[in-house]
Amino acid sequence: MNYVSVVVSGILISGCWCSVSNEVKFPTWFKFGAATSAYQIEGGWNASDKGVSIWDTNVHIRPDTMVNAATGDVACDSYHLWRRDIEMAEELGLDVYRFSISWTRLLPNGFANYISEDGKRYYNNLIDGLLEKGIEPVVTLYHADLPQILQDLGGWANPLIADWFSDYARIAFTLFGDRVKTWLTLNEAFIICDCGYEKCQTPLINDTLVGKRLCNKNTLIAHAKAWRMYDEEFKPKYNGKVSITSLFLWFEPATPEDKEVTDLLIDYWESRYTYPIYSKEGGWPPVLEKFLADKGKHDDSASILPFTAEEIQFIRGTYDFYALNHYTTRMIRKAQPGEKIGPWPLYGSELLGVQFLSDPTWEHAGADWFAIYPEGLRKQLHWLNQTYGVNEIMITENGYLDLDKHLDDWARLKYLKDHMEQVQLAISDGLNVTGYISWALMDNLEWFGGYSASFGLYSVDFSDPNRTRTPRQSARYYSRVTRTRSLHHTLDGLNYLK
Ligand code: BGC
Repeated sequence: MNYVSVVVSGILISGCWCSVSNEVKFPTWFKFGAATSAYQIEGGWNASDKGVSIWDTNVHIRPDTMVNAATGDVACDSYHLWRRDIEMAEELGLDVYRFSISWTRLLPNGFANYISEDGKRYYNNLIDGLLEKGIEPVVTLYHADLPQILQDLGGWANPLIADWFSDYARIAFTLFGDRVKTWLTLNEAFIICDCGYEKCQTPLINDTLVGKRLCNKNTLIAHAKAWRMYDEEFKPKYNGKVSITSLFLWFEPATPEDKEVTDLLIDYWESRYTYPIYSKEGGWPPVLEKFLADKGKHDDSASILPFTAEEIQFIRGTYDFYALNHYTTRMIRKAQPGEKIGPWPLYGSELLGVQFLSDPTWEHAGADWFAIYPEGLRKQLHWLNQTYGVNEIMITENGYLDLDKHLDDWARLKYLKDHMEQVQLAISDGLNVTGYISWALMDNLEWFGGYSASFGLYSVDFSDPNRTRTPRQSARYYSRVTRTRSLHHTLDGLNYLK
């Protein structure tokens, strides 16, 4: 591999919280970033001609679903404070900033027949402002905020969504494709469908039998349609890359006997959304497909919609790199017959008969479900490489949940460092991991959790009309990492940050 390692031996810097001997540096081509998404930060929910999204609807008609009846009406007010966001990205020394476009800010009606001038201006300003500072925009087209009007027409369960989405994507590629070279179609289709139709993400529909399966298939087709359109119409002139982000917890078998069921669970969580795209043959992951077909003979909850041969070919190979969102790991054990599933039942627990556990040696972030096992990331990167042989992997999210919003966030700093260390190891193992994007640039609306949870490198004062942003220790640390391209250094004299 073309991995450049620089060994700095025998240097000990005073005030350093870790040794720098035998230090490995990230290669010069490696990209550091931070991420956000439109609904979580922008606010300006009805500014100018912006249309209503399913998240606008949810917070307004179902405030009881939100911690402290939080809304994204103002959020971090990035609609007005985008210049400060760029400044923060610069302070952090980022190579890339990942943000998402609000579909209803750009296309207020959801459809491509009317483009908002205000929406165009907003994203042009953001993109140009980043590029002026030498920061590359990585743009997600869809991050949870479907136009309400499209939801009313069936949303992701309506096969026409593939046309609606690719029409929207074409507008975005046309308007911004000369400057945006890395695109992500959908953020976490697993969450859009498995959560959206099992009442843990908007549109909070409970329809696991039909809606969830239509959504699973339609997200794949919508992604593929947008990818193919870019490939044919835009790639020749702009030479950019398009992919889809996948949320993937790493699953570790509790004992060697649990390996088979763990693999099946990986199929259920990961491959149901990725095998059709990344595998050589396309279609559903065969072992899971067979398992569901057998089980489906006497259990309605087990099935997936079939693909036609054309659909398999249409979806297969629609990627330019693999975009991975990784946060945590679970230990998996096969449940005993009749055993109660718990304490953390997650998707697939009942269907596949598994228990999700944590290893007693693992620490936890702000919530007990958030087990910390950095080695899981390296194992997952290897799994992706072995399973799909993907040419390039970019980590598009990794971050630490804290319920205590202090600035001295040493635990987050350690989490980031330990995970980036695993990325370094994976690169030195020979894997082509080209970037690490931390979630999040700043605290934001953590969906139903509102503003009670923090993921930010910067804290945001949500009681202040100016939404003042303040760097945490993790931001200070990260700004050194990006500049030194190394994980081991002193925290003294960090004066890049305001
Ligand atoms: C989502 C973000 C979310 C983060 C933390 C990710 O999977 O893409 O929108 O804020 O998890 O929960």
